[in-house]
Amino acid sequence: MKAAMEAQVSVVVAILFMLLVQFGLAQQVSSGSSIERSALLSLRTSLGLRGKDWPIKKDPCTWVGLRCRSGRVIGITVSGLKRTRLGRLNPRFAVDSLANLTHLVSFNASGFSLPGSIPDWFGQQLSGLQVLDLRYASIFGAIPQSIGNLGRLSSLYLSDNNLTGNIPSTLGQLSELSILDLSMNFLIGSIPSSFSSLRNLTRLDLSSNFLSGAIPPNLSNLSRLQSLNLSDNSLSASVPVELGNLSQLVELNLSKNYLSGLLPLELRGLRNLRMMNIGDNSLGGPVPKDLFLNLAQLQNVVLSGNKLDGALPVAFWSIPNLYFLDLSRNNFTGSLPSLSSSVIHGAVFNLSNNQLYGNLTSLFWKFSSVDFSSNYFEGKVPENGQSNATLAENCLQMVPNQRSLQDCRLFYAQRGLTVDNFGGTDPAKPPETKPESKSKNKLIFILVGAFGGLVFIVLLVLIMVVLLKFCNKGTANQRSSANVGPVPEGDSPSPHKDITHLSGVGQSFTYEQMVHFTGNFNESNLIKNGHSGDLFQGFLESGIPIVIKRVDLSSVKKESYVVELEFFRKISHTRLVPLLGYCLEHDNEKFLLYKYMRNGDLANSLHRGTSTENESLQSLDWITRLKIATGAAEFLAYLHHECTPPLVHRY
Ligand SMILES: *[C@@H]1O[C@H](CO)[C@@H](O)[C@H](O)[C@H]1NC(C)=O
Ligand SMILES: *[C@@H]1O[C@H](CO)[C@@H](O)[C@H](O)[C@H]1NC(C)=O
Ligand SMILES: *[C@@H]1O[C@H](CO)[C@@H](O)[C@H](O)[C@H]1NC(C)=O
Ligand SMILES: *[C@@H]1O[C@H](CO)[C@@H](O)[C@H](O)[C@H]1NC(C)=O
Ligand SMILES: *[C@@H]1O[C@H](CO)[C@@H](O)[C@H](O)[C@H]1NC(C)=O
Ligand SMILES: *[C@@H]1O[C@H](CO)[C@@H](O)[C@H](O)[C@H]1NC(C)=O
Ligand SMILES: *[C@@H]1O[C@H](CO)[C@@H](O)[C@H](O)[C@H]1NC(C)=O
Ligand SMILES: *[C@@H]1O[C@H](CO)[C@@H](O)[C@H](O)[C@H]1NC(C)=O
Ligand SMILES: *[C@@H]1O[C@H](CO)[C@@H](O)[C@H](O)[C@H]1NC(C)=O
Ligand SMILES: *[C@@H]1O[C@H](CO)[C@@H](O)[C@H](O)[C@H]1NC(C)=O
Ligand SMILES: *[C@@H]1O[C@H](CO)[C@@H](O)[C@H](O)[C@H]1NC(C)=O
Ligand SMILES: *[C@@H]1O[C@H](CO)[C@@H](O)[C@H](O)[C@H]1NC(C)=O
Repeated sequence: MKAAMEAQVSVVVAILFMLLVQFGLAQQVSSGSSIERSALLSLRTSLGLRGKDWPIKKDPCTWVGLRCRSGRVIGITVSGLKRTRLGRLNPRFAVDSLANLTHLVSFNASGFSLPGSIPDWFGQQLSGLQVLDLRYASIFGAIPQSIGNLGRLSSLYLSDNNLTGNIPSTLGQLSELSILDLSMNFLIGSIPSSFSSLRNLTRLDLSSNFLSGAIPPNLSNLSRLQSLNLSDNSLSASVPVELGNLSQLVELNLSKNYLSGLLPLELRGLRNLRMMNIGDNSLGGPVPKDLFLNLAQLQNVVLSGNKLDGALPVAFWSIPNLYFLDLSRNNFTGSLPSLSSSVIHGAVFNLSNNQLYGNLTSLFWKFSSVDFSSNYFEGKVPENGQSNATLAENCLQMVPNQRSLQDCRLFYAQRGLTVDNFGGTDPAKPPETKPESKSKNKLIFILVGAFGGLVFIVLLVLIMVVLLKFCNKGTANQRSSANVGPVPEGDSPSPHKDITHLSGVGQSFTYEQMVHFTGNFNESNLIKNGHSGDLFQGFLESGIPIVIKRVDLSSVKKESYVVELEFFRKISHTRLVPLLGYCLEHDNEKFLLYKYMRNGDLANSLHRGTSTENESLQSLDWITRLKIATGAAEFLAYLHHECTPPLVHRY
């Protein structure tokens, strides 16, 4: 009966046939050509599909994963189908019978294991194919050149396989291609410049391969491109300025390559961009000031892991929808702008591992979560900021795990600034006891060995003897409780008490390090025998030259080094040679470490002869002498008028 009916139907005129289709009866009246039917059955066998999904007795158009039009198979999806036991044991890329499905538009085997290579005949025989999805299908071998003949192809997904070899340039012929995804394979060679002919491309994903060479500049011809992912390859050279022509682009991912050069200003043409990731490359130089001015759609920007430097572009702070900004692991410097901007809830901001400094500003609470670690921010953490902040390795007050004062001082000094010293010494903010001590004390005497400094010639300034005593010795003990810090009282200072207050005066070193830094106090490293100790030249582990003063307590007044440390704890001035640290381990020998001044000490410089044969020891000219005098006067004025209480020095 059924066969008779089929025969009848096959001679029905075209109009009636169309009517039947319209009424949804096509499936019943056509099981496709018998060629297609046998092709499908042989595909069922070669792929090891189960009769349960593709039952022999039923119309193939009702089989799981099959789509028909006008009784012809147009789509096959085998992903998700279970296999027979035999099929499971011996999976193969055995799809030869597809060649007889001449109306096939779509073949989807994503996630369906097809170990083997894409056959060359695909390109010759499946000329109607529009969608080919072979993601995660255990395919290996090269992509056949012939794929370029599938002129109707609009989506080609080959990601997550073991494809090797070059990307065939013939792919550039696929003029209707809209999606090309070759990510996560083992493809090598360069990106074919023929890709610039893929005029209908909206998504190009070549990420996680081994592609090398430059990004072809004329990819910018892909005027419909919305997503470009070339990340995790070995692409080099610079980011082509032409990419700025991709005005439809929404997502740009060039991360994890070896791209170098500057970040092109032309990228400001990417007006629809929402996601930009150029992290982990070798980009250098500053970010162009105007690059982010017009990129108002941006939500997600990653520039981390490059060598970008200069200031943070202010344009970042006015992008309305930015919720993820990662600028970490670069060389950005400067301070944060102070602007009142609205809070972006849930926004994440990573600035860690840069060279940023200065105070934390209101910008700090624009984001819900910030990582500012490993910079040089100083001062206090804003109080009404959020709690979710990582701030380690900075120069901040009252925050654990900060850099050493020495690091901070050095960094700020290189920029001609003084660090706030963790709130320890702030010359503008005298100790609370100031009025009291001022009223009771008339003068405080200090013996400062040498001091001063220069704008042009930096001199080695030696603190030789520092003696801090109260004028009114008799009442010292009574006043001690109201006194300023660990000032030694009377003749018997207690070093241990003082050591607890030394947090503000650089790093603590071990005696072993002293021996190491000075070559076991080698005579050749001795600079001079000063009044308050012997001065040695030395080098830190990092190779930085320093001067070490060895204070021998058997020949020098015991409290001298304590007073000097106390002096440094309270005083910081550009004319004062910086104290880098101390070593107080030994009972009889104490060490103070200073920055090394290239031009030696002041006394020797002033008293050089005029007629020595050694060029480098020529007498100072008068302009230099004037500068020295000015520098010295500045420091004197500071000691006498700006310090509270005022200090008197004696050379
Ligand atoms: C296609 O169908 C023809 C006729 O049934 C058959 O001879 C041929 O082997 C089939 N080709 C493939 C690749 O299965
Ligand atoms: C292929 O099939 C999988 C699983 O059904 C589906 O997720 C995927 O979107 C399909 N591919 C295409 C291009 O439609
Ligand atoms: C693909 O490559 C991975 C890693 O090299 C390997 O473990 C896997 O067996 C390969 N698969 C096939 C089908 O070759
Ligand atoms: C381009 O792709 C779109 C879908 O993204 C499609 O509708 C259109 O027909 C294609 N145009 C050409 C010329 O291939
Ligand atoms: C892109 O550039 C390559 C060489 O750099 C050239 O062969 C190709 O024709 C260009 N494509 C277009 C569309 O201009
Ligand atoms: C393709 O891009 C190149 C370089 O960007 C340009 O010179 C050329 O005019 C473009 N071709 C077309 C057809 O747009
Ligand atoms: C490549 O980038 C696009 C857009 O950002 C993204 O959708 C896609 O998942 C990425 N591909 C891979 C393999 O991560
Ligand atoms: C960009 O590519 C990297 C590396 O492939 C990937 O980890 C990241 O998720 C991608 N970003 C987006 C937003 O797709
Ligand atoms: C593409 O970009 C280049 C350089 O940025 C520019 O000279 C050219 O005019 C742009 N081409 C198009 C078609 O916009
Ligand atoms: C960062 O900048 C400093 C100077 O400001 C330079 O010495 C250093 O080498 C730079 N680091 C990198 C990784 O470029
Ligand atoms: C930080 O703030 C303090 C006081 O508010 C100020 O003295 C200091 O100069 C500021 N630091 C910088 C680098 O602006
Ligand atoms: C803090 O930030 C981290 C990372 O940005 C995030 O995973 C976590 O949920 C945030 N915690 C709170 C309380 O917001």
